[in-house]
Amino acid sequence: MLLDKTKNSIIYFDNAATSFPKPECVTDAVLNYMTQIGANPGRSGHKLSIEAGHIVFKARKSIAALFGLKNPMQVIFTSNATEALNLGIKGILQEGDHVITTSMEHNSAIRPLHELEKQAFISLAIVQADKTGIIDPKKIKEAITVRTKAVVVNHASNVLGCIQPIREIGKICKANGVIFIVDCAQSAGVVPIDINRDNIDILAFAGHKGLYGPTGTGGMVIADDFDHKKIKPLKCGGTGSLSDKIDQPDFLPDRFESGTLNIAGLSGLFAGSQYIQKKPGGIKGIYSHKNELQKHFIQQAEMFVQNFICYSSSNLPSAGVIAFRLKNISVSEAAQILSDKFEIMCRQGLHCSPLAHQTIGTFPEGTLRFGFGIFNTKEEIDIAVHALKSISEGN
Ligand SMILES: Cc1ncc(COP(=O)(O)O)c(C=O)c1O
Repeated sequence: MLLDKTKNSIIYFDNAATSFPKPECVTDAVLNYMTQIGANPGRSGHKLSIEAGHIVFKARKSIAALFGLKNPMQVIFTSNATEALNLGIKGILQEGDHVITTSMEHNSAIRPLHELEKQAFISLAIVQADKTGIIDPKKIKEAITVRTKAVVVNHASNVLGCIQPIREIGKICKANGVIFIVDCAQSAGVVPIDINRDNIDILAFAGHKGLYGPTGTGGMVIADDFDHKKIKPLKCGGTGSLSDKIDQPDFLPDRFESGTLNIAGLSGLFAGSQYIQKKPGGIKGIYSHKNELQKHFIQQAEMFVQNFICYSSSNLPSAGVIAFRLKNISVSEAAQILSDKFEIMCRQGLHCSPLAHQTIGTFPEGTLRFGFGIFNTKEEIDIAVHALKSISEGN
């Protein structure tokens, strides 16, 4: 970790937007590529190009291992989770299809779906979550019609941190021949995921949040038994392969990876994804660390901070994302004071999820959001609770 907290008193609780600081091995890997390798993979035959190709392959293997995927070629790199969701959603849908999604989705999923619905290209059913943000799988089952092509679900809420029963929902999808697309932007690297066992067909992840890679990284992962030819590419172009042809290659990953990849970013993503997987306790350890931090924060804030309202439940498993507010001050003013006076970085507002805030009754103002990362500690939480107490008391 490069952020020296003895010199720098900043407390960073905005890990749900992007993680910070990154482990030192991540910045080292980016620098190593930029200063020692620099070349374009898959284009030329010289040794630097081959070395760059090795980095990309190692990153693919590391992501495949993280999600229990057997074939690393089914990992498609994109610039973020949004691009991966657009690729999965627009890639599989055809005119007349029916899609089921939920009231907990991020705009990265609901906007592409809503656009297609407005064009009368698809019809869309939005299944309502309960007040704790959880979707009842039975409601998904009831919403399936003969035209249903896909179900799109956000695994871990970027508003409440709660985790959806994806294995159960995926089972229902499998039994009904429906494609299951899961938005793992908040859960990748935080909650243990097995793409095959969790019955996911298409998984979207962000490389820059729980995987500790640089911004500008993410990807779509296609389950081992899912035929990738069912997905249309979003973009076509140079892949370095089949250069004699003007047809887009139909093999993986080239079908979906046109144009030069973000190799500096993928170098860092490889390092970050290895770092979290090799950390003592692995992903399970990270998951329990975040759950402990969440419980500690809610317990302390409920005990010491007057006017504290928490929307996330300390009784539910969590990805370490907490929505709360102070009754007597607007969320934007509170966030400003946290940043300016107390050097505590968090996010306020709707977190790109208007429907989720409507679900929990916090629309249109939204909430404050703390998103904990692997480097956060209970001591930092205690400082934040003290700051919130002081804000709430008008000091
Ligand atoms: C649940 C969820 N989905 C999708 C996204 C979009 O991720 P990205 O910024 O990598 O496109 C986010 C980002 O916060 C998110 O929280």
